[in-house]
Amino acid sequence: MRDDIDTSKLFAATVVIPVIRIDSADQAVQLAHTLVDAGLCLLEITLRTPAALDAIARIAAEVPDAVVGAGTVLSAQDLDRAARAGARFAISPGCTESLYRASADAPLPLIPGVSTASEIMLGMEHGHDHFKFFPAEAAGGPAMLRAWAGPLPQASFVPTGGITAEKAADYLALPNVIAVGGSWMVPESAVAAGDWRRIGQLARTCSSLRNR
Ligand code: 3PG
Repeated sequence: MRDDIDTSKLFAATVVIPVIRIDSADQAVQLAHTLVDAGLCLLEITLRTPAALDAIARIAAEVPDAVVGAGTVLSAQDLDRAARAGARFAISPGCTESLYRASADAPLPLIPGVSTASEIMLGMEHGHDHFKFFPAEAAGGPAMLRAWAGPLPQASFVPTGGITAEKAADYLALPNVIAVGGSWMVPESAVAAGDWRRIGQLARTCSSLRNR
C-alpha cells in the first residue's frame, strides 16, 4: 500500500509518537490507556522483544482509541507479522528493496527510515513520501531537515532518535515535519515498573506540542 494515501491521516490526531519497548504484553493495555488518556493515541511498539506482537494484538483488541503500530520492522516477514497482529502502521529504521516490495502489497502503510537524500529518492521511487528520519539527532537534526526541504519539498518526516521534550518543538516547527517520535515519555524503567503515573505525567507534557 502506497503511504501517500493513508499515512497523513495517521497524524491528524497527534504529533508525538511514543516509541515503546515492552517486555510484558500484560502491561500493554494499561500502558496504552495511560498514553491515550494523556492525549497520545498513536503508539509505536518496537519489535525488539518477544512480547511486542502480543502487545500490539492486545492494544488493537482492547484499546479502541489507540492507533497502534509496529516499529523496528526490518523485513517483509516483520511487516507481515505486524499486520497479522493488528498493527495499523509500520515504521522501520532504514529500508531495503525487499521491504519496499513487501510494503507495496501490505494492508498497512510503512513509514520507511531514511538518513540521506539518496534514501529519500529511493523511497520516492517506490511511491513513498512520508519517512522516519532516523537517527534524527545524530544524523543532522533540524538543520538536515531544513536542507532537504529545498530539493525534496514533497517529502515529509517523522524525526526520531535522540529527541527530548525540549527538542521536539524545534522539529515540529519545520514545514516538512508531520510528527516526532521518541521514547522520552516511556522510559524503559517506568514501563518495566508499571509506573503509569510517571508515564502519564511525561506524556501530558507532550500535549502542548503542536505542528507549526
Ligand atoms: C527508536 O526507534 O529507537 C527511536 O529512535 C527511539 O529513539 P529514542 O529512544 O532516542 O527516543
